[in-house]
Amino acid sequence: MTSQVSKKKILFVCLGNICRSPAAQGVMQQMVDEAGLTDCFEIDSAGTAGYHVGELPDRRMRIAARRRGIELDHHCRRVTTDDFSRFDIIVAMDESNYRNLRELSPSDEGDRKIVRMADFFNPDTRLRHSHVPDPYYEGAEGFELVLDLLNEGCANLLNANS
Ligand code: 4NP
Repeated sequence: MTSQVSKKKILFVCLGNICRSPAAQGVMQQMVDEAGLTDCFEIDSAGTAGYHVGELPDRRMRIAARRRGIELDHHCRRVTTDDFSRFDIIVAMDESNYRNLRELSPSDEGDRKIVRMADFFNPDTRLRHSHVPDPYYEGAEGFELVLDLLNEGCANLLNANS
């Protein structure tokens, strides 16, 4: 009989699911693949709002990620109640996402799965950035900052779970 090692399932969540969380999904997937851990993780993303359901990530985020060798091809979806049982870790990009997730969570077990991306920033970064800022209404530098923060947070998240 073969033993099946269960995958660690991580869901990244922001408001629109077209900027921060699909970028986090792409950054984390690239790190997992480069570490040879593709079979050990399932990584997805979703939004608490439904403005862009079905769409590809924001073009500005796709361009910024592509410059770092990451293709973002996720199609926007909303968080569902099932996500709280299906995933092991649910990572909120900011405090508003965190609060929305706590409201959507159907159980104490679901509540315990919700964490903040900033929990995985290095301490010096955390002094300057309490969350992953929404780049939607920002210029190109906002997208670069998001990718820098996600790189650091995802590296620490991966270390903590592998
Ligand atoms: P995200 O950014 O939450 O990082 O995907 C946003 C995308 C779209 C909107 C807001 C934030 N919007 O209002 O449409």
